[in-house]
Amino acid sequence: MKTYLVTGGAGFIGSNFVQYMLAHHSDISIINVDKLTYAGNLENLVLVEDDARYFFELVDIRDKIAIERLFDSYKPDYVVNFAAESHVDRSIETPEIFADTNVCGTLVLLNSSKAAWQGADGGFGNHKFLQVSTDEVYGSLALDEPDRFFTESTPINPHSPYAASKAAADLFVLAYKDTYQLPVNITRCSNNYGPYQFPEKLIPLMINNTLLRKELPVYGDGLNVRDWLYVEDHCKAIDLVMQGGSDGEVYNIGGHNERPNIAIVKAIIDYIRQRVDSGVSEALIKYVEDRKGHDRRYGIDPKKIRQDLGWYPETDFETGIVKTIEWYLDNKGWVERVTSGAYQDYYKNMYEGR
Ligand code: NAD
Ligand code: DAU
Repeated sequence: MKTYLVTGGAGFIGSNFVQYMLAHHSDISIINVDKLTYAGNLENLVLVEDDARYFFELVDIRDKIAIERLFDSYKPDYVVNFAAESHVDRSIETPEIFADTNVCGTLVLLNSSKAAWQGADGGFGNHKFLQVSTDEVYGSLALDEPDRFFTESTPINPHSPYAASKAAADLFVLAYKDTYQLPVNITRCSNNYGPYQFPEKLIPLMINNTLLRKELPVYGDGLNVRDWLYVEDHCKAIDLVMQGGSDGEVYNIGGHNERPNIAIVKAIIDYIRQRVDSGVSEALIKYVEDRKGHDRRYGIDPKKIRQDLGWYPETDFETGIVKTIEWYLDNKGWVERVTSGAYQDYYKNMYEGR
């Protein structure tokens, strides 16, 4: 029985990962360590909450004492660190919390892993620390060079405060490998979409607004490109890296699925018009003031993870977007609950008069 300490397991990708792992492995247990910020939601985990292999701990990853206590009591073999402030727009408003959680929180986890795992011989046995990172650490690609992609050797060049915090955390993870030989991997993934994504991100925000016949705020000219990956494919990639990733290596994960934002928004309107509400149309689209420092294009070359670990994205976008919209249609109560209260203030602050 292997024990995984998964941080941020109540968020979007983390909760999908916890469910994926429990469904695909009988011989594991998972300790989900989450502070339950606005983005964390135990409702995302109702399908596994009664599973005897699953434990939840309401803990902030910056809390050194509490994290050490968890290592003492659960003795995890592996750490998978999803916990983060994850939204670029929020990082432009309040960068400090991004440095605090994403950098200092990661350091606490690295230190506890090192202290708990280092044996008398100075080695670390069969342990691993996996840092879930992002393609945003590489900066931006140009639209007029469609054949250029981020690879693992692309220099780090983050632009937003969010990306800077994730890049700093990555450098600490690699430093713990180089300095202390802590066994680590870093995965850098492109934009995820799928069930349980908080409706501050492009796809769930546009689905929710279309269903409510609200304006669809497209930043700038709508031609910024993102490389969309269905979340379950990301979970599978992380599982493969946990099992077979070479020590100290970085793996890029991408969907081979680059699309301009406006094409995503139009695809959502089209599906909802045909499936639910013939009254919605592209007239809902409103081009609004651009995001500050808006990266133009992300595009991943996932050759390394394909060649080394046999991973490839299994869900094409046409299938994934339908599954995603259908999930939001089936879970209107979830959407109503996460968009009441603080979300309304966030939305006003971010979009009113923009
Ligand atoms: P999310 O915002 O949906 O969830 C983040 C989770 O972390 C929440 O459950 C939150 O409560 C928890 N958390 C935040 N601060 C914490 C703290 N101090 N202590 C404990 N828990 C804390 O994020 P997501 O979209 O699921 O992203 C998960 C990870 O994947 C992040 O590290 C992000 O940088 C990375 N990532 C995300 C994407 C994407 O497209 N969403 C792509 C690549 C990488
Ligand atoms: O690339 C991986 C990253 O993808 C992750 O590391 C981040 O955690 C995740 O938030 C995501 O970052 P983005 O900034 O790319 O995602 P977001 O959904 O915020 O925006 C996607 C694109 O859509 C981006 O070009 C901005 C644009 N956009 C977004 C919103 C919320 C709009 O045009 N309108 C909007 O209202």
